[in-house]
Amino acid sequence: MDILIIGSGGREHAIAWKAAQNKDVKTVYCAPGNGGTHFEHKCINIDLTSIEDLKNFAIDKSIDLTIVGPEEPLTKGVVDAFKSSGLRVFGPSREAAQLEGSKIYAKNFMKNYGVKTAEYAAFDDFKEAKGYTMECSYPVVIKADGLAAGKGVVICEGSEEAAAVLEEFMMKDIFEGSGKKVVIEEFLEGVEASILSITDGEVILPFVSAKDHKQIYDGNEGPNTGGMGAIAPNPYCTEKVLKEFINNIMSPTLKGIQAEKLDYTGIIFFGLMITKKGVYLLEYNVRLGDPETQAVLSLMESDFVELIESAIDKKLSDYKIHWKKGHSCCLIAASGGYPGKYIKGLQVKIANIKNSKVFGAGIIENGGTIYTSGGRVLAVTSTGNSLEEAIAKAYEDIKEIDFEGIYYRKDIGRIY
Ligand code: AMP
Ligand code: GLY
Repeated sequence: MDILIIGSGGREHAIAWKAAQNKDVKTVYCAPGNGGTHFEHKCINIDLTSIEDLKNFAIDKSIDLTIVGPEEPLTKGVVDAFKSSGLRVFGPSREAAQLEGSKIYAKNFMKNYGVKTAEYAAFDDFKEAKGYTMECSYPVVIKADGLAAGKGVVICEGSEEAAAVLEEFMMKDIFEGSGKKVVIEEFLEGVEASILSITDGEVILPFVSAKDHKQIYDGNEGPNTGGMGAIAPNPYCTEKVLKEFINNIMSPTLKGIQAEKLDYTGIIFFGLMITKKGVYLLEYNVRLGDPETQAVLSLMESDFVELIESAIDKKLSDYKIHWKKGHSCCLIAASGGYPGKYIKGLQVKIANIKNSKVFGAGIIENGGTIYTSGGRVLAVTSTGNSLEEAIAKAYEDIKEIDFEGIYYRKDIGRIY
């Protein structure tokens, strides 16, 4: 079997690594991949990114299965394009991908199908949105409707700040269209959890829960990033929390997918807030999380390709996902300055890694040497019988990595 994986992050390296473990898989093409997939068993990087080029490549090489990593190609209809050419592809249709691509679509979907979520109002008119923020109670959360590379959500403490954010999003159009419409929603206080899951449109099978660490600094301080580390399972996801999630979020979501007749075979990622008033859905993502994937796939005993094939064949109801006992921890080694400005092209040295799998993220290979090419550079991932063991192994190994300005959080997995 030959597989094509679309994307270039740490998440895609983890998918490629896991897919390569299937004995029937001969080659894993990574488009475009990164300096980590370059060195991975069975993997070949190919320098293609447009949907048209990817589709033609899949046809030429008779690719047996394409797995789409990031949200952007999904919201642009990569799955529809592949399917219309008779290709086997794993991911939601363009219509279904609106659950991530449009916050207004997602919130209306949640409301229509009784998915527990924060109260909200949606606006496409600046004056009306501003009027609303003059009267609402604070804090509120303002969200750009469309994709904004993780920068489209701002928590506002008062009406002046809210007016300034609305001005930037709706009038100055800093997200080039994505912030022309906004959702303004109730602020929820609690702890977050990521539940990645797989669906064939008939059932949703949740994966082991995970906890991301979004802020750049220890103690959850500073600006948000794509994610500075993850642990799995999430210690806050107790039986009670999971039960509430299934009843109030996952089951009504599945009913909604079916009622709307969405063509949804793929990953559905529930971003949860666990509060004193219960478990709420903050957002859907229509793809795996990064760095949650590195932590979660490290604990997956089942074959990922087989699982995906079952979803495409609509046989998930017969599938039982097996998990390794224990815990995992993924640490992100980032470029100094990230999530602000940072230098690229610095040489990366990886010395004596003992117990971890190091996934490449923002790295490229050139003449056998690797160089930084992004904010999140590497994802050092370990497993252990206890959370403490997984964390200790990952921290021991991240010391073996060296590049100028390397930065990582020292408190991943700590419970505050
Ligand atoms: P989202 O893209 O909707 O997940 O928002 C990004 C981040 O903003 C979340 O991971 C939370 O940390 C925060 N956030 C989003 N919505 C809310 C909310 N209603 N209350 C508190 N924090 C939120
Ligand atoms: N780590 C959060 C995300 O992938 O959206």
